[in-house]
Amino acid sequence: MPRNLDSRTGAAGKPLRSQEWWSGKEYYNFSRRAWLRSEGFTADVFQDRPVIGICNSWSELNNCNLHLRNVAEAVKRGVWRAGGFPLEFPTISLGEMFMKPTAMLYRNLMSMDVEESIRANPIDGVVLLCGCDKTTPAQLMGAASADIPAIVVTGGPMLSGQWRDRKLGAGTDGRKLFDLYRTGKLTDEEWCQIEGGIARSAGHCTVMGTASTMASVAEALGMTLPGCAAIPAPDSRRLNIAELSGQRIVDMVWEDLTPSKIMTREALENAIAVDMAIGGSTNAVVHLLAIAGRLGIDLNLDEFDRISRQTPCIVNVKPSGEYLMEDFFEAGGVPVVMREILPLLHADRVTANGKTVRENVDKAECWNREVIRAASAPLAAEGGTVVLRGNLAPRGAVIKHTAASPHLLQHTGRAHVFETYKEMHDQIDSPGLPVTPETILVMKNCGPKGAPGFPEWGQIPMPRVLLDRGVNDMVRISDARMSGTSFGTVVLHVAPESAVNGPLAAVETGDEIELDTSGRTLTLHVSAQEISARLDRRRPAPAHYDRGYGWMFLQHVNQADEGCDFDFLRKRVT
Ligand code: FES
Repeated sequence: MPRNLDSRTGAAGKPLRSQEWWSGKEYYNFSRRAWLRSEGFTADVFQDRPVIGICNSWSELNNCNLHLRNVAEAVKRGVWRAGGFPLEFPTISLGEMFMKPTAMLYRNLMSMDVEESIRANPIDGVVLLCGCDKTTPAQLMGAASADIPAIVVTGGPMLSGQWRDRKLGAGTDGRKLFDLYRTGKLTDEEWCQIEGGIARSAGHCTVMGTASTMASVAEALGMTLPGCAAIPAPDSRRLNIAELSGQRIVDMVWEDLTPSKIMTREALENAIAVDMAIGGSTNAVVHLLAIAGRLGIDLNLDEFDRISRQTPCIVNVKPSGEYLMEDFFEAGGVPVVMREILPLLHADRVTANGKTVRENVDKAECWNREVIRAASAPLAAEGGTVVLRGNLAPRGAVIKHTAASPHLLQHTGRAHVFETYKEMHDQIDSPGLPVTPETILVMKNCGPKGAPGFPEWGQIPMPRVLLDRGVNDMVRISDARMSGTSFGTVVLHVAPESAVNGPLAAVETGDEIELDTSGRTLTLHVSAQEISARLDRRRPAPAHYDRGYGWMFLQHVNQADEGCDFDFLRKRVT
């Protein structure tokens, strides 16, 4: 039977975008149909069906996303059931554990891959499959810029780690145990046993690190179905929600429910509030600023601090608390958190399932009050991440105070300076390192341009001389990020970074620094004239790259307070 080659019209009055490729009697309409039929599809798959791209960040170089092919199959079932036509495509994947110098160097590259893969192809809607730290923000950024209907399915956390009778959280407990291994308190054999038990399945890190945080943020933004973030990767319910998401995206296409209609300023504020309530990773600040930039929304660090001050931290998951993501899932996950803080949220914002935040979470029940506290009995009265400013960080810095030592949150001490990460690495275990528990460690040249790529080097290891004395925390300051699984009294994202001659570059060993977390200040007790004179004497370090993507990164990356996106990728607001 001859096919109807006329363009179809969606419920929102717009023809399906994919029909520009298939529909019509020109040679290229014919050849596109023919080339797709070479994959074995019959002629009627082009008829009345939204094409749903499944944007898959599966890779064997990214263990966290290793199961996403199975997830994609479940998505396809849902798409077919709803009358869509699924086509899976790959993008680069960013494996946090493997990529050097840091996966963050490539977040913007992945976002461009996602955006342009969507834009260039006959896709009406897209399901974004992500998991490991940077894959979720990269997909959200790319989808925001492409702005066709999109829904996120995160891969979920891996199973809880296990060693002997202990549950282990990937990242957080590994770092704590490594300090025991470094100081001879664990044998090689025990360390090998831990290596085999700390990461037991595919899925992202199982504490409230960056991946779990960004999965929760995607849900809080309204870009996933409710309850998606915390389902463990190997749990059959992960495939259930993937199938339902595949089903739902088809309707989203007909409704023309695009990312810019979901990720509004109010939705971003909801996501910030959830980030604060879960004690989320400091990295979420950078990623949300970048997502806002793609949407043309003027979000700044002060918004984070305002929301932090009014949002209680209620999730008792490592590194801020005691439990793991499996426990968080069994306690009810993100919907329970959002219900607890509902008065602080924009509850009437529409989400991917077409319902409002309030409709989605109103009946959420908590099954374990130890893991998700009531807002009236929080872990901390304020949110997990605090924004600092002062002459050492004129454009801001952050500290995750819920994962810090309370006695160090108000602290004045003398700086011990490392000019580079390498210098720190070479000296930190030196028996003669002149530091005391009151010393403030300062590390330079670890920001977006200086490192380069803004690596997670900010949790400077505790000096061996202090570990041997039983000291487990001290104030550390840098222009780096830190892993969301990390902990300690660590000031991060100092902006402007030292590589662009921010004031951090002027700090010298012996200078007095004051950290006043409750007052939100970070002060270098050196006169403005002296800081200026020291900065004038500095010579810029040679550029890390003179060609290729690295060169482009150095030319165009923004500072931490703007999300470290490329200047040319932010939406132009006229
Ligand atoms: Fe992928 Fe932790 S290494 S989420």
